[in-house]
Amino acid sequence: MPRRRKRDLLIKGFSKLLKEDKVKIVAELMDKQVESMELMQSFWHSDHSVQKIFDEFSENTISNFYIPYGVAPNVVINGQNHLVPLVIEESSVVAAASSSAKFWSSRGGFIAEVVDIVKIGQVHFTWKGDKKKLFSVFDQVKARLREATKHITANMEKRGGGIIDFELKDMSDKIDNYYQIMVSFDTVDSMGANFINSCLEEFAVELKSFFATEDVFEGEEKECLIIMSILSNYTPDCLVKTWVECDFSELENIDESLTGEQFAEKFQLAVKVAELDEYRATTHNKGIFNGIDAVAIATGNDFRAIEAAGHTYAARDGSYKSLSKVELKDGRFKFILEVPIALGTVGGLTNLHPLAKHSIEMLGNPSAKELMMIVAVMGLANNFAAIRSLVTKGIQIGHMKMHLLNILNHFEATESEKDNAVEYFIEHKISFANVSEFITNQRKN
Ligand code: MEV
Repeated sequence: MPRRRKRDLLIKGFSKLLKEDKVKIVAELMDKQVESMELMQSFWHSDHSVQKIFDEFSENTISNFYIPYGVAPNVVINGQNHLVPLVIEESSVVAAASSSAKFWSSRGGFIAEVVDIVKIGQVHFTWKGDKKKLFSVFDQVKARLREATKHITANMEKRGGGIIDFELKDMSDKIDNYYQIMVSFDTVDSMGANFINSCLEEFAVELKSFFATEDVFEGEEKECLIIMSILSNYTPDCLVKTWVECDFSELENIDESLTGEQFAEKFQLAVKVAELDEYRATTHNKGIFNGIDAVAIATGNDFRAIEAAGHTYAARDGSYKSLSKVELKDGRFKFILEVPIALGTVGGLTNLHPLAKHSIEMLGNPSAKELMMIVAVMGLANNFAAIRSLVTKGIQIGHMKMHLLNILNHFEATESEKDNAVEYFIEHKISFANVSEFITNQRKN
């Protein structure tokens, strides 16, 4: 029988240990006692109270994981200039956002509008009975559900939001006796996940009581099985639209071999490919989310929720497509992105994480609607920069330039080796092998 490795042993009560002990156990199990402990501790914040905030965001925290915090300047949206914070580990994203922002700042900037801000939650249940009866009393159900959650919704209503409406959906043709109550919410400037989920769980209790107590129901109709109550991250009506546009003549000189019109046509072709082919669409949309996620993270928003909604939206017609599109008309190029973005500028991590708070301040304390527009713009900006490179010089020149420092750091290059390398690789092709050879030669000399 193979000998069990130390780290195969089950650890009991790990979550209850002090952080210092957790670090120690992990280090021991990795057989890297001092090295691992020192590494973990070196990333702790020097201010104990700040570190405590980070520790309490999650469970079993033993350290912090740094990701670069960058800024894209000159982002003109609806005539207003913004400094946009971007938190991302991929080297080219901030550069792409900044260069795209600069390009469009002299061509009218980005235009953006919020289509709507509706969020969705669902109570999923099964019920055996006469469905006509159920639908006939649904107005009563709605009134009862609203009444039952008054204590939760009062504050949200003061801020201008609350429950918008309820819809009863008969899904019994898909699963026997299965129904949904789809609830729409306006959570104003908050992401509202806790608010929505609290309302939904209260609705579920009230729904059960409704079936049990109303005289119209009899026998097994008096019972329902609540399967679950949870918000939906698919928010097609929490939608933002952003676009850039200019004359073909303003696209001259992007590439020396293409006129402005030829560039616009080639760019449109590239986007059409992403409308037709899901392999390309996935990468195309990934480029959009490079920008979207980076602002979402910088502002303490849930980027997984935003991505999930975006990908479902991209497949809303039954096949997965590009989220952006191009229109060419009367000598004008228009590049448009429409994407659901559910986020908040108050509550949650936005106020607790010192850097998220700073990001919100950097953006001028925007409302949720304003932040939705900024986030979408960063998606379009990255998408524009990516397609512009792809249809002209390719992305590797830019990517590898940005990647050069990562490769140099891999070889633990000194500052002077880095300076020499940056100068040398202006004229030479950057690749891992070439940088390796360059460093080896430098060190030989
Ligand atoms: C890389 O992170 C993103 C791109 O691949 C996006 C695209 O291909 O459109 C450059």
